[in-house]
Amino acid sequence: MPINQTALITGASAGLGQLFAEKLAARGYDLIITARRQDRLDEIAKQITETHGVKVDTLSADLSAYDDIRTVEEKIRTTENLTLLINNAGFAVPGYFHEINVHDNIDMCRVHIEATMRFCSAALPGMIERKQGNIINVSSVASFIPVPKGTTYCATKAYLTMFSECLNMESSPHGVHVQALCPGFTRTEFHKAAEYSDEELSQIPGWMWLDAEDVINESLRAMDKGKCVVVPGKRYRFILFLFRLPVIGSILKNSTRKRRR
Ligand SMILES: NC(=O)c1ccc[n+]([C@@H]2O[C@H](COP(=O)([O-])OP(=O)(O)OC[C@H]3O[C@@H](n4cnc5c(N)ncnc54)[C@H](OP(=O)(O)O)[C@@H]3O)[C@@H](O)[C@H]2O)c1
Repeated sequence: MPINQTALITGASAGLGQLFAEKLAARGYDLIITARRQDRLDEIAKQITETHGVKVDTLSADLSAYDDIRTVEEKIRTTENLTLLINNAGFAVPGYFHEINVHDNIDMCRVHIEATMRFCSAALPGMIERKQGNIINVSSVASFIPVPKGTTYCATKAYLTMFSECLNMESSPHGVHVQALCPGFTRTEFHKAAEYSDEELSQIPGWMWLDAEDVINESLRAMDKGKCVVVPGKRYRFILFLFRLPVIGSILKNSTRKRRR
């Protein structure tokens, strides 16, 4: 019997990670899903196994903790048929940099940067040897647009986008493709977890919200084509086009700065 392809997904207990898990199971992937909340992972694993008949392993890990990062890293290194790695776990701590506890920012660097870097480093040698594999690093449209009250978030996501682009240049000649998925505002548990106030959320126009399913579908379609930087939704691609124009871009950046005060 042929062995199924295996995908490991971080941050799979909710939102985009959970949806990635469901969509990949529907494509026949066996899964390793990880996040901190074991009860959620168990529930999702049970539901996916019942619906799609694939194998789902769970691994509870806090990716802001060094020992837990190393546990997941080891799992990646020792999973022989790992063909897809999705570094999706993430969170925001909204607020001015000088008002945020520095440990929260360090945790964010661990989850967004250190975990992603270590997991790519653990996955790539095997993928390159097999000449097959995909890595999706979930970045953000915030990686292109600096905003106040999002300093570390924007900076860590900018790292992820640049990291993915460079890595893709190195690994795609070996048959391994790396994607930076850069969504805009998407309906998940993300904003509730970050404790954004209702007032802050009400300032985001309705047309700026993306449907999580559309984001995942665009990402997987782009993966099938080997595309590297993926900004889901025409409206966000248009916004980025405007931001990159010298005069209009600086006007838009100034208005973003004023609105976030
Ligand atoms: N939603 C948006 O508007 C938006 C926009 C652009 C980019 N993104 C990015 O998309 C990714 C997924 O976010 P989402 O929107 O799906 O949010 P979500 O619904 O809040 O899910 C976040 C996931 O990350 C996990 N996670 C958070 N902190 C963790 C930690 N310390 N260790 C391990 N896992 C952790 C959470 O699981 P546990 O709590 O169980 O650990 C959860 O499974 C993130 O990287 C986010 O930055 C989101």
